[in-house]
Amino acid sequence: MQFLSFLSLLALATATSAQKCQLQFDGRVPVGSTPASFDVNTSPFGTKNVFGQNLTWSKIIVLPNITRSLFDGTANIPLEVTLSDASIFAPSATNIQTGFRRAELNPASNNGTDPSTLGVKTLHFSVRKDNARPLNISHEYQLVFLEDAKFTTNQFVLKTGTIAGQPAGQNPDLLVLQGNVNAPVIENLFNVSFTANVWHNFALTLNFTANTVQTFYSQNAAALASVTGVVSNDLSGQGQFHFGALKKGTGVNLTDVTKQGFQESGINEGVIYGGIFEEISTCGCVSLCP
Ligand SMILES: *[C@@H]1O[C@H](CO)[C@@H](O)[C@H](O)[C@H]1NC(C)=O
Ligand SMILES: *[C@@H]1O[C@H](CO)[C@@H](O)[C@H](O)[C@H]1NC(C)=O
Ligand SMILES: *[C@@H]1O[C@H](CO)[C@@H](O)[C@H](O)[C@H]1NC(C)=O
Ligand SMILES: *[C@@H]1O[C@H](CO)[C@@H](O)[C@H](O)[C@H]1NC(C)=O
Ligand SMILES: *[C@@H]1O[C@H](CO)[C@@H](O)[C@H](O)[C@H]1NC(C)=O
Ligand SMILES: *[C@@H]1O[C@H](CO)[C@@H](O)[C@H](O)[C@H]1NC(C)=O
Ligand SMILES: *[C@@H]1O[C@H](CO)[C@@H](O)[C@H](O)[C@H]1NC(C)=O
Repeated sequence: MQFLSFLSLLALATATSAQKCQLQFDGRVPVGSTPASFDVNTSPFGTKNVFGQNLTWSKIIVLPNITRSLFDGTANIPLEVTLSDASIFAPSATNIQTGFRRAELNPASNNGTDPSTLGVKTLHFSVRKDNARPLNISHEYQLVFLEDAKFTTNQFVLKTGTIAGQPAGQNPDLLVLQGNVNAPVIENLFNVSFTANVWHNFALTLNFTANTVQTFYSQNAAALASVTGVVSNDLSGQGQFHFGALKKGTGVNLTDVTKQGFQESGINEGVIYGGIFEEISTCGCVSLCP
C-alpha cells in the first residue's frame, strides 16, 4: 500500500513536468517522412521559404539517422538543414541576398500575425552539430530567431560563430542567445559551448504581454532546467520563427549585410534540429521533460 502510493506520487511528480501543455504548433517530423515531405503542404513547415532561389526543401533537408532529441519520442525524427553555394535567397526577382547563405524553416501555421506570437508561449527546440558538415565559425550564423512581421528586428536570436558586435577574442564556438537586436545594447540572455555529439535542448517562455523571456536548457535526455530568470526583452511586432542557418558574410564596415561581405565557395554545411514545437503557457505550463 505504502509502495503503491509512493509510485503514484512518483507518477504525479513526473506528470507535472511532462509535455502535457496544449500545443500552439508542432514542428516535429513524423517517422516515415522523407526530404520530399517538406515540399508538400502536409509539411509541419512552410514550403516556400526561406531558401535559395532555385532550390526546394527536398534538396536542402537531410534526415540523419541519429539519436532522437528530448521531445521527439518514438514517433518523430530529427531533421538537418544544409547550406550550399546555391543557398542564396531572393525575396523578389530584384532583391537577391548575395551577402547571405540561408535555409530556415518557418512553422506552417506561423504566418506572421497568428497567435504563436501573442499571449504567453513556450518555444521548444533542440539543436546539434553535424560533424560531417561543419559550420565555418569565422562567420556569424543565426540558427533560431523570431523576426517581426515588418522585418525590422529579431526579437531574439540564437547565434553561433564570430558574432558582430561581440568583444574581440570571444570564443566563436558558443551558442549565444541574444535579446532584441534593435535594443540600444544587445543583451546576451544565455550562452553555452556548442559542443559536438550532444543535443542542446532549449525552451524559451515568451510572455508577449509582459515583454519577457525565460530560458530553459539541458543536454541530451536530461530534463530542461531554468538557466535565467524572467528577463525583460521587447517581443512586440509578432512575426515568424526561423529554424535553420542564416550565414552572414565576413568583412568590416558593411552597410548592407544582405548584399555585402565575403562568402567562400564550395560550402557543404548543416545544422540538425529536433523537437520543434510551441506550447501555450498562459497558466504557467512549461514542459521540462517528455
Ligand atoms: C539507423 O541506425 C540503426 C543503428 O544505428 C540501424 O539499425 C537502422 O537500420 C538505421 N536506420 C536506417 C533507416 O538507416
Ligand atoms: C537561379 O537560376 C537562374 C537561371 O539559371 C540563374 O540566373 C540564377 O543566378 C540562379 N540563382 C541562384 C541564387 O543561384
Ligand atoms: C494568419 O493566421 C491567422 C489565424 O491563425 C488568421 O486569422 C489570419 O487571417 C492569417 N493571416 C494571413 C495573412 O493569412
Ligand atoms: C571560413 O571563412 C573564412 C572567412 O570567410 C574563409 O577565409 C575560410 O576560407 C573559410 N574556411 C573554409 C574551410 O571554408
Ligand atoms: C556566457 O555566460 C557566462 C555565465 O553567465 C557569462 O559570464 C559570460 O559573460 C557569457 N558570455 C557571453 C559571450 O555571453
Ligand atoms: C505574462 O505577463 C502578464 C502581464 O505582465 C502577467 O499578468 C502574466 O502573469 C504573465 N504570465 C506568465 C505565465 O508569466
Ligand atoms: C571601418 O570604420 C572605422 C570607423 O569609421 C574606420 O576607422 C576603419 O578604418 C574602417 N575600416 C575599413 C577597412 O574600412
